[in-house]
Amino acid sequence: MKDFLINNSKVVFKENLTHSILSQSNSYNFHTSKNYYNKTSLLELKSLSKEIGVKSISIKDESNRFGLNSFKVLGSTFAIDKILDKQPKIETFCTATDGNHGKGLAWAAQNINKKVIVYVPKDTTLERIKEIEKYNANVYQLNLNYEDTCVYAYQESKKNNWCLVQDASWDNYEEIPALIMSGYLTHFKEIECFTNNMTKSKYDIIFLQCGVGSWAASCIWYYMQEFKNNRPKIVLIEPDEACGVYESFANGKRCSPRTNFNTIMAGLNCGIPSKSAWKIIQQGCDAVLKISDTDTKKAIKKLYYPKGGDPKIVSGESGAAGLAGLLKVINNKELYELKSYLNLNKDSKILLFNTEGDTDENSFKKIISN
Ligand SMILES: Cc1ncc(COP(=O)(O)O)c(C=O)c1O
Repeated sequence: MKDFLINNSKVVFKENLTHSILSQSNSYNFHTSKNYYNKTSLLELKSLSKEIGVKSISIKDESNRFGLNSFKVLGSTFAIDKILDKQPKIETFCTATDGNHGKGLAWAAQNINKKVIVYVPKDTTLERIKEIEKYNANVYQLNLNYEDTCVYAYQESKKNNWCLVQDASWDNYEEIPALIMSGYLTHFKEIECFTNNMTKSKYDIIFLQCGVGSWAASCIWYYMQEFKNNRPKIVLIEPDEACGVYESFANGKRCSPRTNFNTIMAGLNCGIPSKSAWKIIQQGCDAVLKISDTDTKKAIKKLYYPKGGDPKIVSGESGAAGLAGLLKVINNKELYELKSYLNLNKDSKILLFNTEGDTDENSFKKIISN
């Protein structure tokens, strides 16, 4: 099996609830009106782009989003605000998470004095659990993988009358994940905000790391709306050991990957893709590429020990996965077909996202010192 798949079919879906929630999103106005708001930096990696032979590499650095070390809080802040507009009496929110989403939800709920129950899968590190507990959430670790932890959180929420704020959708659970995806739109707007007269994106190719796919789908949706056929090529990056989107494409239907979920990329260590994300991904993603833990470790070091005048960037295991994907395509002759399909060459303007900083500090220290 190849490490990549090209999506030639581009299935087009009818409007649905997720589309209409995304279309109505005012998350940018919402976030920018808050006193905790900060716009994260868009950094240029000029030396790296020369080294690998592309025109430019821009990287949106989410390691300091609202002081929380990852972009995920954009989703939960927006979603719970909209949920409470409709149901102001909600007292307790619940979620399943491998770290960053739970931390973002705990922070957002603490700001408005609401309770949070968080379930984490068996592989979540103590460091990540402590990060969530900092914001007063009750965290319970289960002896389950991520996908089954989501099912458990769903059942407990039903039983206890909690509001489940999950960043993945499934049958009859679509509205809240769509609100979370709407929240993510803020940072795409920060990058290409005032595009009124622009018919073409500033970028040719975007590499997006993918867990359940909600974040990637919101990016795809944004670029499809803004630039239609002129949008950049979009490549999704998944861990070898948790490649739900890759296997769903390979099987022609949404499915759980038959892998062992043994990866350090905690934020991407998911099973079946989110139902509504999968539809958007089928429509607008150009290719999927699998990477290894070694690939992401190399990318973390590239960002932390830059050459020339490039800025030093602190990036976690999932945060560096987009760059890891780009480097894999550049450095691997076997990926020639993908490289030429993407038109990845000396004129390419690349967009990457550092979706997290050192969210597991111990692991980060080990990686950069090896
Ligand atoms: C740091 C980081 N990057 C990327 C992702 C991927 O987001 P999604 O699960 O929506 O695909 C996650 C998910 O938790 C994450 O924590």
